[in-house]
Amino acid sequence: MFRLISALLLLAAMSVSAFAQSIPAGSSWKNQRGSQMYVANTDINGNFSGTYINNAAGFQCQGTPYQLAGRAGGSHLTFVVVWKNFAADCHSKTVWRGRLIGTTTIQTHWVLTGPGIPTLRGADTFQRQP
Ligand code: BTN
Repeated sequence: MFRLISALLLLAAMSVSAFAQSIPAGSSWKNQRGSQMYVANTDINGNFSGTYINNAAGFQCQGTPYQLAGRAGGSHLTFVVVWKNFAADCHSKTVWRGRLIGTTTIQTHWVLTGPGIPTLRGADTFQRQP
């Protein structure tokens, strides 16, 4: 009985750990536009946070870090950047929704919104950086 309970506890701990590692704390990612995302923190509920540097041509708020907040559930994830920091306020925000493929690719669709600007939609693919 003791062994069974131990095995079940171990299994539960491994599942929580696998979930938490769906997007690892300390991981760096880059998309096809050259933008960089750093995931600094994760928790056991799938929440994560970090920074996002927008380097995409044709957009504002480039070249400095913005706060990023997200949530992962299994391989699916959603994250948000509000484009306001110490350097600039673009009065806009972007929501990315997508999935982790393997351990090194995140495929997303995003929506950029803000008062007085037309809503923009697109797709970003992020690759994990060494
Ligand atoms: C703005 O121009 O209002 C703020 C910057 C938006 C940058 C967008 S978010 C979606 C796309 N992917 C990127 O990495 N950058 C652009």
